[in-house]
Amino acid sequence: MSIESEIKKEVSRRRTFAIISHPDAGKTTITEKILLFGGAINMAGTVKARKSKKFATSDWMEIEKQRGISVTSSVMKFAYQDFEINLLDTPGHQDFSEDTYRVLTAVDSALMLIDGAKGVEAQTKKLLEVCRMRNTPVMTFMNKFDRECRNPFDLLDEIESILKIQCSPLTWPIGMGRDFKGVYDLNAKTIRIFQKDVSQKEFQIIQLKDLNDPQLDEVVGDVLADQLREDLELLEGAGTPFSRSAYLSGEITPVFFGSALNSFGVHEFLDGFLEYAPLPKSREATERVVEPVEKNLTGFIFKIQANMDPAHRDRIAFMRICSGKFTRGMKIFHTRLQRMIKLNSTVTFMAKEREMMEEGYAGDILGLYDPGIFKIGDSFSMGEQLTFTGIPHFSPENFMRVRLADPLKGKQLEKGLVQLTEEGATQVFRSVANNNHILGVVGSLQFEVIKFRLLHEYNVEGVFEGVPYTCARWYHSPDEDIVKRFEERYLGQIATDVKNKKIFLCNSTWDLDYAAKKFEGLSFFQNSDHIPV
Ligand code: G4P
Repeated sequence: MSIESEIKKEVSRRRTFAIISHPDAGKTTITEKILLFGGAINMAGTVKARKSKKFATSDWMEIEKQRGISVTSSVMKFAYQDFEINLLDTPGHQDFSEDTYRVLTAVDSALMLIDGAKGVEAQTKKLLEVCRMRNTPVMTFMNKFDRECRNPFDLLDEIESILKIQCSPLTWPIGMGRDFKGVYDLNAKTIRIFQKDVSQKEFQIIQLKDLNDPQLDEVVGDVLADQLREDLELLEGAGTPFSRSAYLSGEITPVFFGSALNSFGVHEFLDGFLEYAPLPKSREATERVVEPVEKNLTGFIFKIQANMDPAHRDRIAFMRICSGKFTRGMKIFHTRLQRMIKLNSTVTFMAKEREMMEEGYAGDILGLYDPGIFKIGDSFSMGEQLTFTGIPHFSPENFMRVRLADPLKGKQLEKGLVQLTEEGATQVFRSVANNNHILGVVGSLQFEVIKFRLLHEYNVEGVFEGVPYTCARWYHSPDEDIVKRFEERYLGQIATDVKNKKIFLCNSTWDLDYAAKKFEGLSFFQNSDHIPV
């Protein structure tokens, strides 16, 4: 087989996605079920055991443990039927950070998991916004229907009104909680009968002629059968019909109902996922668009994880392959450093354990041991100048000023902060008015991590002090006069980021709205991608 057809074939087998959800919606549970069905693990409880729920935020050892653990589940690669699936973890709970957002820039689609009793929650909303930035196709799984949930129509309405994406159910629940009988498959016109705790066993499927088929009443009872008929009539009138192209462009989300805990509905999701989810997409670089089937290897770094082994202080950089074929030991061009580097120590993340990666294609994630030469956003090619775009910094939500306990340690502080910024652990801003270091993070646990690492890795004691900011926005206007007037008015709240882009540190969203009204013509952005350097 020629290399071109080999690459084409391998790309068409790859699906790279992430699960977005609010803590406790059931992400760990569904991940485990997906891995079980994929044959990647053979025992329930494996993923669950990795998730330690409680720890004191100040207890670094626990954080370390958590981080060590989370790297093995950062990327879970497994084969399912004839597909190679990469499931990327989006860290939640206490380690919710900018990483969580950035992982979404490296996937081709996402699964949005919703707790049917709770509906759309804060973290899901934030993560979905990131998907929308790149029009990432999203499938939805309404979880926990074995419990009392909200009315399914209300749940769909909520997604449509809050998340601004149309819902197109592919299955529909029959009852819920104690009366949960199963789901109706709208395309196949089958009912899948719900049973508790059957883990991997196939659920019984009943084929109906149509909705008037008396079998429906026999199996689920008259009341629920009539309810289903009514619901489907309503859906037919008011629902959004499924279209793959509308899903692929991010306009609609196909919806599945089920119970991850009981493995129910997970097969339907996986089948739907394999049938409809996109293969690795083309990626934009400043210079041109890169197609996944191109012969030359290209990729970019979207995540750096440090200290996975505290004894060695190693860092692993995660590279998403965008095109071509990777083979271990090959050399690639580091476009920022303008030099070739050899890819010897690469790992892949099979769901079971870390393994050496021998080959990879677009959609795969390479783990590169980092001797300190990688930054988030770095791009690689076979010699061509390429800079992939769409790997922005995201607006932090928590801020602190960092000062030195010992004023002679300025250099070490600078070095530590530069490296921690390169890893994406924090963003560092310099106040324009007084040159203060202001750290910005997405999840506040990061401050503990940074404080600890500054002390232990760079020997600097940082004094962290509260600042009144609650959000930050990059800003831009083609009219320099507006920018100048704005910066004069808000001098104490203007800072520069690592790339010297200006950012507005706001005291509240009210502050931001007020500034936006007062300085019409100035645009504010939640990520740095829109700002010209
Ligand atoms: P997360 O990773 O999104 O945070 O959620 P996780 O899977 O840990 O699930 C959160 C809780 O919800 C767990 O219960 C889990 O068992 C439960 N859960 C997940 N899917 C379902 C479902 O389909 N039906 C029902 N009834 N419960 C579900 P827990 O009590 O917090 O933990 P555990 O004691 O069961 O481990």
